[in-house]
Amino acid sequence: MTVQGSAVTFTEYSADIPKIVHSTDFTIDPNAIKEDQILIKALATPINPADLMQLRGGYNDAPDIQLGTEPNDKPLHVGGNDGVFKVVKAGSGSKASKYKEGDLVIPKLPAFGTWRTYAIAGADDVINVNGLTVEQAATISVNPATAYQLLHNYVSDWKEGDYVIQNSGTSQVSRYVSQIAKLDGVKTISVVRDGKSQEEIDELKKFGAEHVISHSEFNDEKFDITKYTKGAPVRLAFNGSGDSTVAHLVKSLSQKGQLLSYGFLGGAEIKYSAVDQFAKDLVTRRYWLTANTYADPEGKVDTIKRLVELYSSGKIKDVPYNKVHYKQGGNEEISKVFLEGLANFKNGKGKQVLFYD
Ligand SMILES: NC(=O)c1ccc[n+]([C@@H]2O[C@H](COP(=O)([O-])OP(=O)(O)OC[C@H]3O[C@@H](n4cnc5c(N)ncnc54)[C@H](OP(=O)(O)O)[C@@H]3O)[C@@H](O)[C@H]2O)c1
Repeated sequence: MTVQGSAVTFTEYSADIPKIVHSTDFTIDPNAIKEDQILIKALATPINPADLMQLRGGYNDAPDIQLGTEPNDKPLHVGGNDGVFKVVKAGSGSKASKYKEGDLVIPKLPAFGTWRTYAIAGADDVINVNGLTVEQAATISVNPATAYQLLHNYVSDWKEGDYVIQNSGTSQVSRYVSQIAKLDGVKTISVVRDGKSQEEIDELKKFGAEHVISHSEFNDEKFDITKYTKGAPVRLAFNGSGDSTVAHLVKSLSQKGQLLSYGFLGGAEIKYSAVDQFAKDLVTRRYWLTANTYADPEGKVDTIKRLVELYSSGKIKDVPYNKVHYKQGGNEEISKVFLEGLANFKNGKGKQVLFYD
């Protein structure tokens, strides 16, 4: 029996996302998959800021993707880089037959095009994440992996009581940073935009942040980080937003500290004191998971394996997000459900993840 699928597709790049995304239906004949391929069914796929940058163009451009077992009518891109699928059928080859029906898998490389109900994948193109819940597996590939690499790719000799400091302290990435840092005895200072409630601050502390500081306190010229650190070293600063806090992140770093910039939702230009950099011999560099994954796919697999262990042993927990539901075989178009999630995100309702009922 054939499988009917739907995907959120686009053929041109534009900031006017509602105008360029469409729903495309396709058919897969499970008997036509090749011996080292697997047929997988989507369970949950997030909408991440990087997915939206991809749709706008000039950022991790999306390849053409063949959706069904027959070629598409025209070349199509499929949105989405993150998400979890369930194996429906495995080919008979040696690589594919190590998968069994029901295994949870995530794509190994970016630009897989995860916003589709079914996909045919090469057996080498996915990572097995059995042991996780669907909620955990849905987002593991991007934000927890980023947090893990930010903490482990630049410092290998963490000492109990060392500090990291980060802006966009409410983000998903930051909540994973606080949790993972704590496992090594590393303390996190999270800087958040003004106006957060005590409940929101307590929530960040529950996820491991040692201190939560507002922009206005942090950006005050008289602010002195030693009030919080009591002189312990601040070895890394994570800049996830490119906003006005960057100069103060740099000011807060200790001798030979490093500023890692990984996001620019708050601005594309950053400013900091050349004198601070000179005096403390600071390093500033970008962090980009996508580039790391293309350069070293096995490094990404290792990161995921480590995260699966941390989740499975209860050492980290998943950060909540909003679910948007797409009912397969129903009347609603998949692109409309995606646009509902996009509108929620733009209206400040946080991370949105499409669940496929
Ligand atoms: N380089 C990489 O490899 C990589 C990998 C993963 C993620 N990222 C980037 O990391 C960032 C966080 O991702 P996420 O999925 O964790 O996001 P998220 O959970 O949706 O959180 C977004 C964060 O950005 C803050 N923010 C939004 N607009 C802002 C503005 N105009 N000025 C300052 N702060 C602003 C939010 O603060 P409020 O709570 O106050 O709204 C929140 O802390 C994004 O920029 C994403 O592209 C980069």
